[in-house]
Amino acid sequence: MSKIATLEIDGKKYEFPIVEGTENELAIDIKSLRASSNVITLDPGYKNTGSCESAITFLDGEKGILRYRGYSIEELADKASFLEVCFLLIFGELPTQEELSKFHKDIKGQSIVDEDMKRILDGFPKSAHPMGVLASLTNALVAFNPSSVNVDSEEDMYKAIVKILGKFPVLVAWTMRKKMSLPLNYGDTSLGYVENIHKMMFQQPNEDYKVDRTFIEALDKLLILHADHEQNCSTSTVRIVGSSHSGLFASLSAGIAALWGPLHGGANQAVIEMLEAIKADGGDTSKFILKAKDKNDPFRLMGFGHRVYKNFDPRAKIIKKAADEVLGELGIEDPILDIAKGLEKVALEDEYFISRNLYPNVDFYSGIIYRALGIPTDMFTVMFALGRLPGWIAQWKEMRLGKEPIGRPRQVYTGYTHRAFKTRSER
Ligand code: SDX
Repeated sequence: MSKIATLEIDGKKYEFPIVEGTENELAIDIKSLRASSNVITLDPGYKNTGSCESAITFLDGEKGILRYRGYSIEELADKASFLEVCFLLIFGELPTQEELSKFHKDIKGQSIVDEDMKRILDGFPKSAHPMGVLASLTNALVAFNPSSVNVDSEEDMYKAIVKILGKFPVLVAWTMRKKMSLPLNYGDTSLGYVENIHKMMFQQPNEDYKVDRTFIEALDKLLILHADHEQNCSTSTVRIVGSSHSGLFASLSAGIAALWGPLHGGANQAVIEMLEAIKADGGDTSKFILKAKDKNDPFRLMGFGHRVYKNFDPRAKIIKKAADEVLGELGIEDPILDIAKGLEKVALEDEYFISRNLYPNVDFYSGIIYRALGIPTDMFTVMFALGRLPGWIAQWKEMRLGKEPIGRPRQVYTGYTHRAFKTRSER
């Protein structure tokens, strides 16, 4: 017997079906609300509003659970490769060896970027933020791949998907090398997917490429941990831009722009800048905790808090452990890791943070690893985008194959009611 929700407005009752998900989540299906009652809902930031039904990622904010297609993030981070997770998110199942080999072969076949793209990159000053460069280059790919714009068939979607999975890492590497005044180099199709990313980002022009296992294993794990996170700000952006059928690459470019914000993916850069500021100020975390609690102070504890997790972000736990391991393997003593741990300890014992369920999120420790791997601070959010790419693709594909309508929210108008035009002399 399906559940029903009843709403009463001005003495009149309206009934709406309740939708139940496979994890027993309940939602009131209000598709008929406005037509039947001439009333809409209002929910700034969509804190109580589901935009879609999705079978890709499940997270439970109260219990700190995160699963991709039913597999726990802990197991995937420990046992899978990033390329396997890309396949899992996009196609729904972990690949067989044969499927994985074909997927990687198809991606490698699309990993050349049109040379004219370098002229677009040349137009940016070295001071340009890498997220703005990456969003622009991703959009520019449309011009060089017109057949990948508005695709409907799964076959054409597959072609567009392997294209972007092949070309995006090149754009990420070129974005970094432009800032570092290094020549733009290419990958090597004999290497693994993440190995190739390392080569394109870090190979020096006068040296042979040397595999750096610590870097590759750390980056592979970080990319898995960032790969998807249900309907977050940037994924919702990809879905709503994609719902107008403006194509995969343009939708991804919009997602990159949304992720850039310091309240979202840009937080990983803001965390390191905050920790550096605390270190420069003598390492006194209590002063910054007071600032974070002060309503009159715009300062927030970056890397803390989450719209959904009201418990530990499971990714933060894994990354914190990985930070100790990677810095240990590299023999790096980074004082800001100790500052971060001290900040976490003080915050988790403070009533302000406890009462608001504010815990470290995915961005709190990730920058410490990126920094140890030699990635420039303003490239951290680009690395987040690289990890999130398969999630954005999977969510865009689900939306398009689900033939979802164009996203177009309503509003409550609070401006002037009708008024007659005033001539200039009357104003
Ligand atoms: C990501 O959605 C996702 O899944 C995102 C993400 C993903 O994988 O895609 O997980 C990645 O974006 C992680 C979040 C990275 N952002 C930051 O670390 C920036 C710092 N955090 C916040 O700005 C904040 O916590 C948000 C934006 C993450 C969540 O904000 P909400 O859900 O809108 O919560 P809110 O702003 O309404 O805060 C509730 C209360 C407020 O206090 P009161 O008005 O109740 O007194 O908590 C306070 C806030 O002032 N608060 C903080 C705080 N975060 C919330 N106070 C100090 N420091 C903070 N970091």
